[in-house]
Amino acid sequence: MVSRYYPKTKKIHHYPVTACLVPICSLYGAAVTTVEGVGSIKTRIHPVQERLAKCHGTQCGFCSPGMVMSIYTLLRTHPEPTPEQITEALGGNLCRCTGYRPIVESGKTFCVESTVCQVKGSGRCCMEQDERPFVTRQEKMCTKLYDEDEFQPLDPSQEPIFPPELIRMAEDPNKRRLAFQGERTTWLTPVTLDDLLDLKTQFPKAPLVMGNTTVGPSMKFRDEFHPVFISPLWLPELHFVETTDEGVTIGAGYSLAQLSDALRFIVLEQPKMKTRTHRALLRHLRTLAGAQIRNMATLGGHVVSRPNYSDLNPILAAGNATINVISKEGERQIPLDGRFLERSPEANLKSEEIVLSVHIPYSTQWHFVWGLRLAQRHENAFAIVNAGMSVRFEDSTDRIKALQMFYGSVGPTVVSAGQACQRLIGRRWDDTALSDACRWVLDAVYVPPAAEGGLVEYRRTLIVSLLFKFYLKVRRGLNKMDPQKFPDIPENFTSVLEDFPIETPQGIQMFQCVDPKQPPQDPVGHPVMHQSAIKHATGEAVFVDDMPPIAQELFLAVVTSTRAHAKIVSIDASKALALPGVVDVITAEDVPGNNNHKGEVLYAQNEVICVGQIVCTVAADTYAHAREAAKKVKIAYEDIEPRIITIEQALEHNSFLFAEKKIEKGNVEQGFKYVDQIIEGEVHVEGQEHFYMETQTILAIPKEEDKEMVLHLGTQYPTHVQEFVAAALNVPRSRIACHMKRAGGAFGGKVTKPAVLGAVSAVAANKTGRPIRFVLERGDDMLITAGRHPLLARYKVGFMNNGVIKAADVEYYINGGCTPDESELVIEFVVLKSENAYNIPNFRCRGRPCKTNLPSNTAFRGFGFPQAAVVVEAYVSAVAAQCNLPPEEVKEINMYKTISKTAYKQTFNPEPLRRCWKECLEKSSFHARKLAAEEFNKKNYWKKRGLAVVPMKFTVGLPMTFYNQAAALVHIYLDGSVLVIHGGCEMGQGLYTKMIQVASRELNIPQSYIHLSETSTVTVPNTFFTAGSMGTDINGKAVQNACQILMARLQPVIRKNPKGSWEDWIAKAFQESISLSTTGYFKGYQTNMDWKKEEGDAFPYYVYGASCSEVEVDCLTGAHKIEGAFVQGMGFYTIEELKYSPEGVLYSRGPDDYKIPTVSEIPEEFYVTLVRSQNPIAIYSSKGLGEAGMFLGSSVLFAIYDAVTAARRERGLTKTFTLSSPATPELIRMTCVDQFTDMIPRDDPSTFTPWSIRVS
Ligand SMILES: Cc1cc2nc3c(=O)[nH]c(=O)nc-3n(C[C@H](O)[C@H](O)[C@H](O)COP(=O)(O)OP(=O)(O)OC[C@H]3O[C@@H](n4cnc5c(N)ncnc54)[C@H](O)[C@@H]3O)c2cc1C
Ligand code: FES
Repeated sequence: MVSRYYPKTKKIHHYPVTACLVPICSLYGAAVTTVEGVGSIKTRIHPVQERLAKCHGTQCGFCSPGMVMSIYTLLRTHPEPTPEQITEALGGNLCRCTGYRPIVESGKTFCVESTVCQVKGSGRCCMEQDERPFVTRQEKMCTKLYDEDEFQPLDPSQEPIFPPELIRMAEDPNKRRLAFQGERTTWLTPVTLDDLLDLKTQFPKAPLVMGNTTVGPSMKFRDEFHPVFISPLWLPELHFVETTDEGVTIGAGYSLAQLSDALRFIVLEQPKMKTRTHRALLRHLRTLAGAQIRNMATLGGHVVSRPNYSDLNPILAAGNATINVISKEGERQIPLDGRFLERSPEANLKSEEIVLSVHIPYSTQWHFVWGLRLAQRHENAFAIVNAGMSVRFEDSTDRIKALQMFYGSVGPTVVSAGQACQRLIGRRWDDTALSDACRWVLDAVYVPPAAEGGLVEYRRTLIVSLLFKFYLKVRRGLNKMDPQKFPDIPENFTSVLEDFPIETPQGIQMFQCVDPKQPPQDPVGHPVMHQSAIKHATGEAVFVDDMPPIAQELFLAVVTSTRAHAKIVSIDASKALALPGVVDVITAEDVPGNNNHKGEVLYAQNEVICVGQIVCTVAADTYAHAREAAKKVKIAYEDIEPRIITIEQALEHNSFLFAEKKIEKGNVEQGFKYVDQIIEGEVHVEGQEHFYMETQTILAIPKEEDKEMVLHLGTQYPTHVQEFVAAALNVPRSRIACHMKRAGGAFGGKVTKPAVLGAVSAVAANKTGRPIRFVLERGDDMLITAGRHPLLARYKVGFMNNGVIKAADVEYYINGGCTPDESELVIEFVVLKSENAYNIPNFRCRGRPCKTNLPSNTAFRGFGFPQAAVVVEAYVSAVAAQCNLPPEEVKEINMYKTISKTAYKQTFNPEPLRRCWKECLEKSSFHARKLAAEEFNKKNYWKKRGLAVVPMKFTVGLPMTFYNQAAALVHIYLDGSVLVIHGGCEMGQGLYTKMIQVASRELNIPQSYIHLSETSTVTVPNTFFTAGSMGTDINGKAVQNACQILMARLQPVIRKNPKGSWEDWIAKAFQESISLSTTGYFKGYQTNMDWKKEEGDAFPYYVYGASCSEVEVDCLTGAHKIEGAFVQGMGFYTIEELKYSPEGVLYSRGPDDYKIPTVSEIPEEFYVTLVRSQNPIAIYSSKGLGEAGMFLGSSVLFAIYDAVTAARRERGLTKTFTLSSPATPELIRMTCVDQFTDMIPRDDPSTFTPWSIRVS
């Protein structure tokens, strides 16, 4: 939070910023508050921190300080915010763990409005039990996850005061120009307008750094360099609003947030008719970036930088805005028009000119202005296409006098469809004009087939679809002005004119209440706050990069391959080595042991096998030096054929990583003979990036003696790191110590990759003899570590006309990338889990991982299941469509019904599955909603609602017993405090918290006696990965075992003194020489799988679930409007899209081009019920749920398909269409075929190379 004092208004302004974009020099005179300044466990925690923690709004904790700052900053100006303000304030923050709902809920506790869930204004909680007949008395469910009575009140008078010396500085009448001189750059802050104009004349090329949201990213990502910066951000002349009869003039220094406030005021003050441009701007300002960027970016910076995706410039141009510029020569006005936006040299600012302000004229009665935009995500995403349009009519007619259309994100600049508009002058605003307009606009605004950014046909379709929306909007407007003269648009077209609102999410979790007879001290079964929650919220939880610098430490930067498959001809590091601070360049030659351990290459040797493979690393005294030097390493390559990027290419070249895995039951061929119908199809499921908030981070410290090496890193598998490092250094594993305290999210991405990266760092530490800090930047992390396997499935299904499926034959291929990683296990899971909830009597499934020249894909939450099961749901839905039956009916008919054997002959009882299914249908009022959706769809042509319910049978654990083993070490100290250590890794799932619950119950002592510090190979050796939803189950058993051993040892002491305290018993035990320390062990669940016989008891148990989602889609644009895994799954199935070039280059390397859900994407209403059920085999009836929820997110995908099917049916398209994931707005739009998709130009695929390709 930055706070500034404005001398003009004598007010203090607090606003949130994105720290990495704030130049330190720009903070002169400002007060900066970070999370450390808000509260601390050492002094006092702030209510915002307390409530975020207690409302379970933090899991891994990496995003939590940011969440705290966003809410805190809002409260500084709005101590009693509205829920909408909370949602808006959080719009610029990302969280990958929680699904946002608990974070929003913690913020909502500050709102005056009731925070109790209220169903659509009824004033009653949706879960009030008399309202819900399905909640029977025995099944008393709880919903209370925290106790509001515990919260400290918010007392704004306790906040730190703004430093008075900063007020004095700001009011000093003798302020002088500030100059900061750095190694390579100079920063100048003028204090008067004249001074600014002098500087601009003296340094015409120097950028004016205002919000730095364009200048900053260009320097970081495009290597722009500026020797001089001029920063006039706080000049009073750039901060004003002036209203005249003609319009409003707003100072160029106004931030976009201030611009919103000013426009909001104007819109309230002035008649609607005059403020059409202002309202259009306001609408776009709500979704432009997030709150932080809107508080930094300025109007002047936005207008001058003219980004091609600009959301404001097309509207400003359509509204005839003008720019007031000034230089030493004087002032002038330039029109903010097409020529300016298209960067015609004659329409440009001169180099010595600066923008003082922007004038936004009022609209008039017969003048309509509108802005339109479509993006992958509501907020914080650049538009895929946006537009600003205006039309002026001859008074009281619908005859066009002037027309303007400006499109963004369709070329290198905003594009004006000037000529097309010109041709329409004098025409009436009717369907024929619209039809001509569409054709001419498509000519004027041409998106070439290989255009950067791809989505070519979609963008072309949007160009005309947005125009059509504008056409409808204007017709509606004309009708409102004179209903007699101008007919209204069809009733069923009206809803499409309303944008989807950003709603404040609300939801509820229902879970089994704890038995009232359970002792109050026993925490099992209660919702317990994450053990580190408060530290997360205060920023005091230590992640690896928070560890203080170690003497002599070096930073590592990577040099990665730019070719997918090539011979390394030479590596020239001389220029890099000559740079200041550079200590060494490390290559394959420097690996003393195995550079290729079990097929995983550390440093590329002789050849590269994917873009992003590490070729060498540079070690330097600072990260900046290492990074600069890494850019100077020159590598010469010679391409090698073949280069295999996609699954289809791999199939052509027979390129596989492992042999096929298969399971079969019944007689498939025979099955197909006796069916009414057979369908065949293909399903593509693209990959997914983990996007854990903490990128891979390693601290490798070489020890002086005995070749010992200590590593600190966030990993799910410390033993694996130890193995790789020992192999790379050629030392026994006993010399390598891996410490893992916590990881800022992992989701499978930190199972195998940290081993390779750990070994890469260890080799550097070994060579240089100095500690190595290796923190991957987001772009490198996304490029190098890859993610979920893209999947291609081909199916053939035979069924009866009543929907009963008799036979299915399914082939799965996954894109494994260039090395084995865990692809074999993933394909085994895909095959074993491929029947999901359905009992198909004749069933065959085969799977094979393909070897390609992509970075090696790896474990990801669900481990193949989310991809595989979506295929099952796809063909079951296809069968339903073919039989003209509702999908839910066909699902139910084919679902397992009685105790049965799976396709690999394991016995299971589907009763809980059927209960989940039934409850889900009931609690979601599925059938009533479906009727309502059908009714809605009849009345709305361009918007459609869809519903889907999906069942889930999810396997927990692994088919090998030894993979399920776990160990723990428990020490009781003489003061009675207990230290618990085990082999599981804490990455946000609350594993440590749950282990405390276990120890607390077993030792019968309060949680406060128990401490968990870290996981390490030194304390508990030979552990398996924390994955597969097994962490709690198996480590819990090991901790339980250790505690039970200790309790057994204490029994004689307790028996002698049954009324004694825990401390008495411990003291006595010590005196009696009873050991107070032990290891605990769990051998693992007995599982097995015989792939030759295609059978086994592969999994210890199953978890079941069902989810129902309802969506609404905008058929004209493809826009649509869902805790933790579910939201991650929803992201996977709908908006997260990795883009690869045909040459195998990953384009999407950061939050700008890869969109995970934000707070505005989550379900408007989200109800979760944990169905009561027993699990005798797991500790305290535990159920491994970490991964399962991911697939339930697919109900959103199928709901989208349901909506799209409704649209297609109405348009006469009855043929089933191929389903793929993700169902992005592009896919939705292009599947809702209509006159607009038909009218766009199509290109012959053989005539161009597309910008990006699908790799599944
Ligand atoms: C994460 C992120 C998300 C974003 N999302 C969106 C989005 O969804 N939609 C959208 O439209 N935009 C978006 N933007 C772009 C943003 O709107 C612009 O970067 C911003 O408006 C530029 O303003 P600034 O004050 O930061 O400019 P700066 O970076 O400070 O300056 C930009 C340029 O303008 C010049 N300049 C600045 N002020 C003046 C002046 N008064 N006179 C003359 N020249 C001047 C400077 O010399 C410089 O060349 C996003 C940016 C970021 C970083
Ligand atoms: S708690 Fe938000 S990213 Fe992990």
